[in-house]
Amino acid sequence: MQGVLFDLDGVITDTAKFHFKAWSRLAKEKLGVTLPASFESDLKGISRIDSMNRILKFAKMENKYSADEVDAMAQYKNELYLKEIGKLTQTDIFPGIENLLDELAVNKVKLSVASASKNAPFILEKLGLREQFDAIADPAKVAHGKPAPDIFLEAAAKIDVDPTKCVGIEDAKAGVEAIKSAGAVAVGVGDSNDLKEADSVVASTEELTYSVLEQAFRK
Ligand code: G6P
Ligand code: MG
Repeated sequence: MQGVLFDLDGVITDTAKFHFKAWSRLAKEKLGVTLPASFESDLKGISRIDSMNRILKFAKMENKYSADEVDAMAQYKNELYLKEIGKLTQTDIFPGIENLLDELAVNKVKLSVASASKNAPFILEKLGLREQFDAIADPAKVAHGKPAPDIFLEAAAKIDVDPTKCVGIEDAKAGVEAIKSAGAVAVGVGDSNDLKEADSVVASTEELTYSVLEQAFRK
């Protein structure tokens, strides 16, 4: 294992609740609909614009607005979201992650972020983790979102490690699929039924250690 490719939302910190809060407010204010709780997990790993389109579809308004109006709504959601994540601090890092990053650094494993979020650099900054990563793949530069492999390929390229020498860590089904399509080894965090396609699954980030990742890689 020469590189580890990290999803961010749901692996390094819990932003799903903030995404959901911002989307819910947008849906209520601009579309007059209430989002069901299932949207919190349904939108994991889904890009901003794809999430917006899913919400419009749910509201049965997919043809009501121009592309510019849809963009403006997605931008408004991001402003609401930024207010939430602006409050993040080091205490919001999931358990076990800081220890894992230290262990990987000691073992000279390169670390890259493969998040669909354009806010990933800002979030890492707020958590005090920006310096721990060798690279952050830019989702604006890749053609296809997860489950396509693009963002993981870009994350591996940015640390100059072949994807087959990398382990990817994901909490979303679409993300696990993306890791596998990129040719890397997938470690899932969460429910093993949801993440069946992963090479290995842990229930929580606390269980993520260098040795667990190394074992998954050698399996
Ligand atoms: C992650 C989250 C998604 C989010 C996407 C884009 O994948 O799991 O819920 O929509 O990033 O985030 P952004 O911060 O760019 O709007
Ligand atoms: Mg995620």
